[in-house]
Amino acid sequence: MTVFGTRPEAIKMVPLVLALQNDDRFQAITVVTGQHREMLDQVLEIFDVKPDHDLDIMHQNQTLTDITALILEKLDQVLKEEQPDIVLVHGDTTTTFATSLSAFYNQIPIGHVEAGLRTWNRYSPFPEEMNRQMTDVLSTLYFAPTPQSKANLLKENRPEKDIFITGNTAIDTLMDTIKKPYQLDCLANVKPEHKMILVTMHRRENLGAAMEEVFQALLEVVQEKDDVEIVYPMHLNPKVREVARKILGNHPRVHLIEPLDVTGFHHLLNESYFIMTDSGGIQEEAPSLGKPVLVLRDTTERPEGIAAQTLKLVGTQSANVKKTMLTLLEDQELYQTMSQASNPYGDGHASQRILDDIAYYFDQTLSRPADFEI
Ligand code: UD1
Ligand code: UDP
Repeated sequence: MTVFGTRPEAIKMVPLVLALQNDDRFQAITVVTGQHREMLDQVLEIFDVKPDHDLDIMHQNQTLTDITALILEKLDQVLKEEQPDIVLVHGDTTTTFATSLSAFYNQIPIGHVEAGLRTWNRYSPFPEEMNRQMTDVLSTLYFAPTPQSKANLLKENRPEKDIFITGNTAIDTLMDTIKKPYQLDCLANVKPEHKMILVTMHRRENLGAAMEEVFQALLEVVQEKDDVEIVYPMHLNPKVREVARKILGNHPRVHLIEPLDVTGFHHLLNESYFIMTDSGGIQEEAPSLGKPVLVLRDTTERPEGIAAQTLKLVGTQSANVKKTMLTLLEDQELYQTMSQASNPYGDGHASQRILDDIAYYFDQTLSRPADFEI
């Protein structure tokens, strides 16, 4: 049984769901919590995934307690009814943690996809760092995307035999979407000779003052540089949209648009000059496409992209964000260094490895499948 609830989980679980459905070794049950509604449905629709159960929990301005309590209450019955042999969760959302807790209460093994990412700072990102740590305490099998994430799990004394290095399923999806033709209507008013900076921002710890600081820096840069355009597909969280519209809503070279489906968004990433984001998933996708990323956070659980020199941590203070943007716009050598394409996060075969690892766990194959190597 796969259980997921938000846009990024869906994007990274869909290749696994499709692979499970097409493999005779498994009977696949797909459950969505609906922690996100429209942004989840957008992903399900383009990959034509129809969940067997939809807990439909989302409401406006939901709190962490709301999400956790509703999932615990509603998932228990589904687990009792379906009695899966294993529950697969992804990443670090509150869906991930609450699902793991519910599976544990039902004594069902848990497989954690994208296990072992760490900042070691419990409030950054909040609540994701503790969601993934608590999920890893509860898990039975660990699908670590990289050798670094496996090393983090070993530091926490997770048994080595239960850890498999698989690559990140985000790259499975990206390799599929980027091949499909896509017409980017959202660029109709963006001059092709201009430098297009793609922005996303949504993290709970950045809501409010930090977001205002970053948006102010974006506005100042676009006011100073007349060959720069900003495209910002806004998260549906009203707290994000309100600040974005207040600060960025009135400049002709700032384009506030609705969230794109993932195929469109990957093509937009590919068209950008560089990316500014506090997203986790985008930090994994950008190195594959050779796009520099300024990470709007003080910490990252994705050090592989920093080592590959594609990612740079810039925090959220206005002056620093503005200075770094101007440097990346003007310094060609830095831009070239940050634009080297690399694949530290995967090779497009993570889902297949995870299936083989699960079959091995259930004694369907005798030899342990090979790990992903960078
Ligand atoms: C959640 C995850 C975060 C992940 C992010 C991906 C938690 C605690 N947070 O944060 O780890 O990075 O998803 O985007 O699990 N909304 C809609 N429609 C949607 C989606 C959201 O209207 O399709 C609005 C609702 O008002 C909702 C609010 O956004 O209450 C916040 O959604 P929520 O899932 O609580 O938090 P995110 O910031 O999206
Ligand atoms: N994404 C998308 N449409 C958008 C913005 C992002 O499909 O308008 C995709 C993006 O390619 C990545 C994922 O959503 O795969 C990241 O989701 P988000 O930033 O919401 O969450 P995070 O990765 O921070 O948990």
